[in-house]
Amino acid sequence: MLSEKMQEALNDQMKWEFYSEFLYLAMAGYFKSRSLDGFANWMTVQAEEERTHALMFFNYIAEAGGRPEIRVFDQMENEYPSVIEVFRTTVEHEKLVTRRINDLMTLAQEEKDHATANFLSWFVKEQVEEVASAQKILDQLELVKEEGHALMMLDRELAQRVFTPPAAAAE
Ligand code: FEO
Repeated sequence: MLSEKMQEALNDQMKWEFYSEFLYLAMAGYFKSRSLDGFANWMTVQAEEERTHALMFFNYIAEAGGRPEIRVFDQMENEYPSVIEVFRTTVEHEKLVTRRINDLMTLAQEEKDHATANFLSWFVKEQVEEVASAQKILDQLELVKEEGHALMMLDRELAQRVFTPPAAAAE
């Protein structure tokens, strides 16, 4: 059974995961507007992953005897000054999510809520990957800047990404 405090914190994180979904979809829209369909594909897959994360929180809260609550967020940012700025924002956002997941884990440990800690451990691992994959693209963009040919090569590479539901989400 979840404590009131834990339920509130998990619901708040579910909101953040949905926020992440819309953030990345807005970024995909920006890339579409620049005809960078590969970048748009990468962001759309990222958005799908975030939706999966949000639903994992939804399902866990319910299974643990809590009450999942859907909360709205303020208007999204749809404009970006450059491709590289999108990825700077992405890396910073994922680092923030990592801090939030770590805080949640600390709370679960303080409350001796082992079930929630076990649920969160998947996210702890996932966040390492989330930051690393966005950072890798940012590093490549730092190298090529907005140089047309290199940007198009990267766009082609990012077009290859496909969504694969995480095994943990299917449990
Ligand atoms: Fe659900 Fe990208 O963190």
